[in-house]
Amino acid sequence: MSSPIDVAAERAATPGCATVAHLNNAGAALPTSATLDTVIAHLRLEAEMGGYEAEAAVRDRMAAVRASAAALLGCDAAEVAVTGSDTEGWTKALWGLLLGGGLPAGRRILVDRIAYDSHYLGLVQASGVAGTTIEAVPSTADGTVDLDALGDALAGGGVALASLTHVGTHRGLVNPVAEATRLCRDAGAVTFVDACQSVGQLPVDVGVIGCDVLTATGRKWLRGPRGTGLVYVRSGFADRLRPIGIDGRSATWDGDDHYELEDGAQRFVVFETPVAVRLGLGTAIDHALDLGMDTVSERVGGLAEGLRGSLSALDGVEVHDGGKVRCGIVTFTVAGRATTEVAAAARAVGVNVSVTERPAARLDLGGSRPDSVVRASPHYYNTVDELDRLVEVVAALAPR
Ligand SMILES: Cc1ncc(COP(=O)(O)O)c(C=O)c1O
Repeated sequence: MSSPIDVAAERAATPGCATVAHLNNAGAALPTSATLDTVIAHLRLEAEMGGYEAEAAVRDRMAAVRASAAALLGCDAAEVAVTGSDTEGWTKALWGLLLGGGLPAGRRILVDRIAYDSHYLGLVQASGVAGTTIEAVPSTADGTVDLDALGDALAGGGVALASLTHVGTHRGLVNPVAEATRLCRDAGAVTFVDACQSVGQLPVDVGVIGCDVLTATGRKWLRGPRGTGLVYVRSGFADRLRPIGIDGRSATWDGDDHYELEDGAQRFVVFETPVAVRLGLGTAIDHALDLGMDTVSERVGGLAEGLRGSLSALDGVEVHDGGKVRCGIVTFTVAGRATTEVAAAARAVGVNVSVTERPAARLDLGGSRPDSVVRASPHYYNTVDELDRLVEVVAALAPR
């Protein structure tokens, strides 16, 4: 498969490629040596000069990380904050909306059926306090959010929030979030988009998507260090959020009983942060920007589609990816074999895949679909040979 990406160079710059065929990039991707070096260098600086002093020394570079994140998402730096994870940004935004008065009792929250557990659980938790109701919008037969059904649900009125998922953790489909947010916006609903599985593998432009809040993580397709994430908050919308977990960096304590929240996404930022991994995230984002997201998504999509084809051709193997538009997540089952058995067999020959269970996405898995699927998620640095190794393992397990 030809690609403008120099795969050999990318592999040489990725130490993990020498030891494993890593097809678990939807879990946590392999970082480059450059990202690793950035993290280690800053930890060393902290040890040599003191943590606060080291942070002061890299203040400009930390600002540059936000600028890179903004370039990646197509927004202003003031609209993006670096967080510890997707869920951290999401939780702060959701409770910020509640405390800001955006979830009045009796109002409705709409959610799509490929929602991830941490997002749905957050809705349940917040609704328990707010007195809002949660409604799952039907999907079309292929699992995509049904835009007609979404339109009908919005027409019922009283929708405070629509919680949408760009790419689910499972089944490889890409939801039409830009179309969905347009419908929601027209109906006056706030829109939060989970882009955790899309940022870093697909072009994600918040201007095109048109949402109020979007969250992502660093360790997956962006190839950043663990413990990093991003939250985008649309300019002008941040004023409606009063996030929980504030301190002297997110707010100013300007009276005994009074505080002023920082402007924009800065109100999501706290004082104590792991500077080293955040600098590492910046290195990873810069690398993604250098390659270009169109180029990345083309190669990831091509590898995944090839893998789907090879797996589907095997008797007894079923690929479960839905949607008209698909991405780098390939999910399948093997007749008569537990998903964990398939993943362990792959691991035994040096191929990493993961298993997604129903509790991670219980509105979509289960019922006529399996409760558990094997997930293979190639990144641009993977090779067709590595995919073939997985196919060989699966073929050996498949019934004859
Ligand atoms: C679709 C989706 N959303 C959200 C998350 C949560 O991300 P994090 O663990 O960074 O909070 C995940 C993690 O797997 C995910 O797959």
